[in-house]
Amino acid sequence: MSKTIIVSNRLPVSLQHKNGKFEFKPSAGGLATGLGSIYKEGENIWIGWPGNDVEDESQRQEIVEELKKLKMAPVFLTKKDVELYYEGFSNETIWPAFHYFTQYINYEDEYWDAYCRVNQKFCDAILASAQDEDTIWVHDYQLLLLPMMLRNKLPKATIAFFQHIPFPSYEIIRMLPWRRELLEGMVGSDLIGFHTYDDMRHFLSAVGRILGHSNESGFIQADNRLINVDAFPMGIDYDKFANAAVNKKTLNHVKKFKEMLGDQKLLITIDRLDYSKGIPQRVKVFDQLLEDHPEYHGKVSMIMVVVPSRDRVKSYQALKEEIDTLVGNINSKYSTLNWVPVHYFYRSFPFNELSAFYTMSDIALVTPLRDGMNLVCKEFVASKSHKQGVLILSEMAGASKELVDAILVNPNDQAGVKNAIVEALSMEEEEQELRIGSMQSSLKKYDIFQWVKVFMDRLKHVKERQTDLE
Ligand code: UDP
Ligand code: G6P
Repeated sequence: MSKTIIVSNRLPVSLQHKNGKFEFKPSAGGLATGLGSIYKEGENIWIGWPGNDVEDESQRQEIVEELKKLKMAPVFLTKKDVELYYEGFSNETIWPAFHYFTQYINYEDEYWDAYCRVNQKFCDAILASAQDEDTIWVHDYQLLLLPMMLRNKLPKATIAFFQHIPFPSYEIIRMLPWRRELLEGMVGSDLIGFHTYDDMRHFLSAVGRILGHSNESGFIQADNRLINVDAFPMGIDYDKFANAAVNKKTLNHVKKFKEMLGDQKLLITIDRLDYSKGIPQRVKVFDQLLEDHPEYHGKVSMIMVVVPSRDRVKSYQALKEEIDTLVGNINSKYSTLNWVPVHYFYRSFPFNELSAFYTMSDIALVTPLRDGMNLVCKEFVASKSHKQGVLILSEMAGASKELVDAILVNPNDQAGVKNAIVEALSMEEEEQELRIGSMQSSLKKYDIFQWVKVFMDRLKHVKERQTDLE
């Protein structure tokens, strides 16, 4: 029987060491939370890194057994792999380049060698359980070489790739010494998906200019194979968030939190600690807002959840210090004995508490400088059971292409973002209802299950067209 193998660098659970033992915690990040709702179907299996290094062979065996029960299989990475492939090439080369932070790109041959080696490690792990008739769905920028590695071993297999981060303009791609190899790796797929039309266009242009493959309506003919490229904006598990917003556990949290905070307008911001998310810029805007509008003192506060991420990468460490300082400054400047402007949490939260934050907040401030999609803004909208709330959303997030009823802002325009907060604070209830209602209907329709269906249907269609051409 054929199966679907989902492959990503990080599994949807991450291993944590605790008192000499280990336990699994849910992974943060859009890829894990989004696909977490669908991989358990049928014979599917998810292959990836369990997120911590394990050297002991008997402990590895134990982890293999535990993960098997969850329909997952681990790819163990050594400390060196993590340092050079994950922190190095993935997060110091590709991540900054693809998010247009060219000043942070590290060009290291040692990183590249490790990237090739670890992509091969993933390939070997997949080959241990994959057959020609299986569908292998590879995810994200850490594994760009994998589709072609798999294709070379399983020429007939159905191989798809989805990129969860932006695909930048050719002008950025051409800066990378390994641009040709990266693109060749991706075109090992039958179907290549991006979140937005712009990402897709950038990819097709890079493939045309660097590999010389032209395309016709998103179909590329390469090495006598037909490959389809298209945009598939990822949705969320809408019902999960909508139902959680009205469940007892969440509402108890809401009650408790509101009692602690008193009667205030609440702004919510939730991100991994990442320079692409524009966190310092957002704190500065809030500072300016309080300076210009003393009438908001004591009446408006911001709940800021920053989830620890990639904390051994230098640019991330510097960012943590910058945010700590900015939050310290704003709070020391304006706090009173019964009001704090920014409630800052540097940790992740359990699902029901996150849901409570979404439910009780009046405004979500989602202002990344660059983001492939951004699921947080969709989760906020889905959590608004009374259709009251305002979403302020960066034009630089993929989600802005769908959520046109948000207040859209350019995150670099600090005055514009500040004015958007003022507008949101005074928006009439009727308008809130109209905007949230319209965004909810599209999120409900194009949820994560629909996303998978559309993607898989297309994959089938591509395979059929390939057979017709044979
Ligand atoms: N998230 C989480 N725990 C937290 C805070 C956030 O699991 O404490 C989740 C959040 O619900 C969302 C994901 O992390 O699904 C972030 O995804 P997004 O696409 O917004 O950004 P990414 O982290 O993928 O860049
Ligand atoms: C983004 C990426 C994912 C990644 C996640 C968390 O969502 O698209 O591939 O898993 O961030 O980052 P991490 O480095 O902790 O896996």
